[in-house]
Amino acid sequence: MNEINLDLIDTTGEPPVTEPERQYYYIAKCRELISRKSKELGRPLYSCTTTFGCQMNARDSEKLIGILEQIGYIEKETKNPDFVLYNTCTVRENANLKVYGHLGFLKKQKEKNEHMMIALCGCMMQEETVVEKIRSSYKFVDLVFGTHNIYKLAELIYDRLTLDKPVIEILKDTDNIVEELPSERKYSFKSGVNIMFGCNNFCSYCIVPYVRGRERSRKPEDIVNEIQKLVNDGVSEIMLLGQNVNSYGKNLEEEITFAELLRRVEKIEGLKRIRFMTSHPKDLSDDLIEVMKNSKKICRQLHLPLQSGSSRILKIMNRHYDKEKYINLAEKIRREIPDISLSTDIIVGFPGETEEDFKDTLDVVNRIRFDSAYTFIYSKRTGTPAAKMDDQIPKDVIKDRFDRLLATVHEISNEQTLKHVGNTYEVLVEEINEHNNELVTGRMSNGSLVHFKGCKDLIGKIVNVKLDEAKGFYYLGTMEEI
Ligand code: 5AD
Ligand code: SF4
Repeated sequence: MNEINLDLIDTTGEPPVTEPERQYYYIAKCRELISRKSKELGRPLYSCTTTFGCQMNARDSEKLIGILEQIGYIEKETKNPDFVLYNTCTVRENANLKVYGHLGFLKKQKEKNEHMMIALCGCMMQEETVVEKIRSSYKFVDLVFGTHNIYKLAELIYDRLTLDKPVIEILKDTDNIVEELPSERKYSFKSGVNIMFGCNNFCSYCIVPYVRGRERSRKPEDIVNEIQKLVNDGVSEIMLLGQNVNSYGKNLEEEITFAELLRRVEKIEGLKRIRFMTSHPKDLSDDLIEVMKNSKKICRQLHLPLQSGSSRILKIMNRHYDKEKYINLAEKIRREIPDISLSTDIIVGFPGETEEDFKDTLDVVNRIRFDSAYTFIYSKRTGTPAAKMDDQIPKDVIKDRFDRLLATVHEISNEQTLKHVGNTYEVLVEEINEHNNELVTGRMSNGSLVHFKGCKDLIGKIVNVKLDEAKGFYYLGTMEEI
């Protein structure tokens, strides 16, 4: 990664056919064009990337920014960038609406800056209706690509710069996992690491399997090598990323479980913390609980989406577990790893959800007492089985249930956070506090944020902090002597 000398690439001949060599060739080609443009304008060219959605998208954006920087753009939050990139999400409809809102604004910006290039990528672009709409109503967009070809950004930019017409390339699916391209990490001390792409679960409400394609796991040795390189580069915390990490390895020649991958990752010297997401309850093995329990590096945090507490709804959602199985699993995890922080996702208002079903959800929340929960109003996604179901729930009923759920979730998570006050925990310092530069902000093993007095030299270090006060979503604390 980042070790290839672009000046040594011969850009006069034909592009290589193998990856990633082909992309390095295009990076070098684009660099020539961007450098020429920059000389012409007498200033550097700026890119500005906006990321919507999940951790996978955040990681994809780091790769995209890595390519843009190699090409010669300086990534910066600026009002008038030369290259605007939106990495989109489509899991719920409001994410789509936001993008259209931004496009209206960008049109005016582009009228003021003729060099401006506008690019859209990510999950939303995998939907045919979206691309059609962009083609017909947003003709000023220069570049559209999806989730399967982000590694081709340089080649697509080159096409756009030389063909003089918008470039739209959406692949339906891919078996391709292109590694070893540049990536620009947001934090020097922590990084996401993809372990798998796509999803095979087809939960009936969810669009992800349609826009991210079938499940593909990376080889364990490639993952371990990437993490080793990151550690050599100063990273101490990694987040293993996948739509359903518990089914990691199932499609590999050498079958390997997620628990076994964790054992291998744990052995990497210099690595201090391991996180992962997301876990599907149906695939979470006893072996994984055992590995977590005995690990010194795996963080005390588990995200275990419930979605609904009603066995009837869970069946229609195609989740492959019921209320009892979920409760048993969560209780087992709490029993085996008592200091774990459990978080979850819950959807309110799935088609056909009755008051009885909703009460089952509240019941699970009250019994498991999640440390935190992300609550979502069901969003109808065209193309999913749930979108065709008759019994869509009226808005006012959903709103009422959502408010009740939120109140319960908040009350419980407030009580849960109070449990830790007065104790001392290891905290990885992440940044200077946004609102008060005498404070730093760090993260505990269980994922909670803590603000405490400190300076920028602490960033990236793990220190002991006593929690003085719980403030809802975060703590105020005091650092103990190093
Ligand atoms: N409507 C509402 N929430 C959804 N999620 C996924 N699809 C939908 C939908 N159609 C939620 C699930 C998932 C999280 C990432 O987003 O709770 O776990
Ligand atoms: Fe969507 Fe279900 Fe796959 Fe998660 S496991 S991405 S909710 S289909």
